[in-house]
Amino acid sequence: MLVRKPPMGWNSWNTFGENINADLIKETADAFVANGLDKAGYEYLVIDDCWSERERDKETEKIVPDKIKFPNGMKDVSDYVHSKGIKFGMYSCAGVRTCADYPGSFDHEFLDAETFAEYGADFLKYDFCYKPLSSDGPLLYHRMGTALEHCGREILFSACNWGSDNVHRWIRSTGASMYRSTGDINDSFGSFKDILLSQEKLFGFSAPGCFNDIDMLTVGMYGKGNVGNVGCNDTDYKTQFSLWCLFGVPLMLGCDLRNMNEQTLKLITNPDLIAINQDEECRQPFRIFNSDERYVFARRLSGGEFAFGFFNLGERRSNCVMYPFEVGVTANSGYEFTLRDCFTGEVHTGVKNNFAVYLDPHDCAVFRGKLVRSK
Ligand code: GLA
Repeated sequence: MLVRKPPMGWNSWNTFGENINADLIKETADAFVANGLDKAGYEYLVIDDCWSERERDKETEKIVPDKIKFPNGMKDVSDYVHSKGIKFGMYSCAGVRTCADYPGSFDHEFLDAETFAEYGADFLKYDFCYKPLSSDGPLLYHRMGTALEHCGREILFSACNWGSDNVHRWIRSTGASMYRSTGDINDSFGSFKDILLSQEKLFGFSAPGCFNDIDMLTVGMYGKGNVGNVGCNDTDYKTQFSLWCLFGVPLMLGCDLRNMNEQTLKLITNPDLIAINQDEECRQPFRIFNSDERYVFARRLSGGEFAFGFFNLGERRSNCVMYPFEVGVTANSGYEFTLRDCFTGEVHTGVKNNFAVYLDPHDCAVFRGKLVRSK
C-alpha cells in the first residue's frame, strides 16, 4: 500500500485508555463528521488497546471483541464508522500480549490480519510490548506486514515500537506506512519539547511510503484523560499542532471529539497548517535559527514556496529571527519573500535581510513564504 501523505485521524488512547465501547466510538464518528473533520482532511478513526476479551477464543484462536464493551461485535462498529464516510482502524501488538495485557498477535499474525479484514478495518496500529526476547523485532513487523498485504483488504500498517532497535533504518522494508519514532507522549509542554529535540535528527527518514510518527496529539485535552494530568493551555496546544504540521508527521487527534471547545476545533482544522502538513513533496524541515530555546524551522513546499515556523519554547518573551540567506536566498539574488501568517492571514512583503517575530513563552508563529522578484 502506497501512502503519499501523512495519515490524519483520531485514536482512542490519549483520552479514553481502556474506557472504550461501541457507543463511544459511534458518538465519536458522529462528532468527527459534525465538526467537519473529514472535510478538513482527517480520515481514520482508530480504536487503540483494550478492545478485546482477555483471552482468545479457545476453539478458533481468534481474538474476540470484549462482549460488554462491544456487544454487537466489531463489524457493527466498523459499519457505522464507514457509514459516516470515515475509515476504521484497529490495534494489536507484535508481542504475546498488548501493552495493557490483552492478547497480542505473536504467532497469530495471519489469523489476526484476516480477522481485522473481516471487521472491515482500514488501519492497524501495531505495538511492541511483550515481545519474546528471543524473537527479532524487524522479523515480527515483517510477519504482520506480509499478513496484512495478503488478508484480502487494504489495511494501512502503522508500526509502534517507540523508536527502538533503530527502527528508522528498517521499518520501510516491512510494508509499514508510518512508524512511531518516539516513546509515549504526555499532555505537557515538556513532553512536546522532548519530542521535538529527539526527533529532529530523524526528519530525513520520513517520506511518502512511510512517515515518522511522533505520537498522537494531545491538543484539546487540557489534562483530562489517560496520558498525564498536567495539561496545557491554548498557547501550548497551538505550538504542538504547529510543530506536528510543520514536521509533516501523521496528525492523529487524541482529545474527546464530542466535547471540543471552539479554540480546539479552529486549531485542528486550520487549513493553512494542514496544507503545510499535507504538502505533496513531503520534504523534511530544517533548523535555521536556534538561540536559547527559540527555534526557527524552514521547509520547502511544492511550487517553490516555503513554510517557516517560529517557536519560543522558553519561559520568557523573546524574539526569533529568520534570515532568508539560510534558505539560499542571498542578498544579491534579486529575490525577496512575501510571508503570509497562517494564523492571522496578515501579509508581510519585502522580506529580504531578516524577519523577526516576538513571541510569548511557549508561543509560535507559522508563515507560508512566496519568493518574488525584488523591485
Ligand atoms: C503503548 C503505545 C501507546 C498505546 C498503549 C496502549 O504504550 O505506545 O500509544 O497504544 O501502548 O496500551
